[in-house]
Amino acid sequence: MSKIILPTSFEGKTLFVAGAAGFVPSTLCQFYLDLGAKVIGVDNFITGSHSNIEILAKYKNFEFHEMNIYQKLPHLSSTKIDYIYSLASPASPIDFEQIPIEIMRVNSEGTLKLLELTREKGARFLEASTSEVYGDPEIHPQEEDYVGHVNPIGPRSCYDEAKRFAEALTMSFHRRYKVDTRIVRIFNTYGPRMRANDGRVIPNFITQALQNKDITIYGDGSQTRSFCYVTDLVQAMHTVMMSNDPTPFNIGNPDEYTIKKCAEEIIKVLASKSKLAFLPLPKDDPKKRRPSILKLQKISDFKPQVIFDDGIKITAEYFKKELLKH
Ligand SMILES: NC(=O)c1ccc[n+]([C@@H]2O[C@H](COP(=O)([O-])OP(=O)(O)OC[C@H]3O[C@@H](n4cnc5c(N)ncnc54)[C@H](O)[C@@H]3O)[C@@H](O)[C@H]2O)c1
Repeated sequence: MSKIILPTSFEGKTLFVAGAAGFVPSTLCQFYLDLGAKVIGVDNFITGSHSNIEILAKYKNFEFHEMNIYQKLPHLSSTKIDYIYSLASPASPIDFEQIPIEIMRVNSEGTLKLLELTREKGARFLEASTSEVYGDPEIHPQEEDYVGHVNPIGPRSCYDEAKRFAEALTMSFHRRYKVDTRIVRIFNTYGPRMRANDGRVIPNFITQALQNKDITIYGDGSQTRSFCYVTDLVQAMHTVMMSNDPTPFNIGNPDEYTIKKCAEEIIKVLASKSKLAFLPLPKDDPKKRRPSILKLQKISDFKPQVIFDDGIKITAEYFKKELLKH
């Protein structure tokens, strides 16, 4: 099978990115702006940050609209759009507790609006789904044809089931209206521009380590995760967007760490004096999480480039500056 050849320039192309002020989406916007594309970003700042938009606003080809995508989208009747990225969704465990209805609405009503826009424009659409669609998996590592083990009424279900709905809606538009769609299932990603207090493992551990505070581990730390540095993830998303396969692709970094090992590594890399502190494991916390990315690697040369220690150092630099601001 011949592998995808990625274009080196996006001059003349226009992208619409929902969730542009967020961690992954703002990094993706910058990637395409650097390739010469025009990028139209939309965000309501529910979890995104103004400082990310300030970085993007330095590019003359960036246009921004502050709005809630499940209520409305900008008027773009005379604008040609080539690619639409559906990335607007809160994604961290604290959000599941605090804004579950907003999460369900953006992934259902918001995704519907984006798919309708895609159909109207004859564009190509990519849905940013998640490894959470596998729930607490019974097989390991997870391949794309595994249908998952999700609790539909558990505390994470607002996110897991909303993303499963978004995938189903995407495939329905593809099957019913022949809309050109792609789906990625993103595994844990980290890097600069994450929120320091968003409850995800890496920001928690780094900010605790930088302050020499106890590193809080839920459970005994034997549960595993695989962490992908954000620029590698963006490269994988771009590769899937450029493919011609509408079925889901796992994207992430298959290097697997126990949570305890991850904490110990962060303490070592940052020369921190933090100690480990163990707390009870929350309900429905997945025990194992590692992507199989063989499907993507069959059609492309994708390989994560940033090793964990390097990614942690760069991310810690970002959090150091953030801590100084507050
Ligand atoms: N970061 C990860 O590890 C990870 C893992 C799996 C999936 N994802 C998916 O990738 C996407 C980006 O995640 P992230 O980690 O960068 O999160 P993020 O919260 O930093 O970014 C999401 C952005 O969407 C915006 N948004 C949310 N609801 C909106 C609405 N109704 N209207 C307009 N904007 C809205 C937020 O304000 C935010 O800027 C999400 O769809 C998420 O589910 C991320």
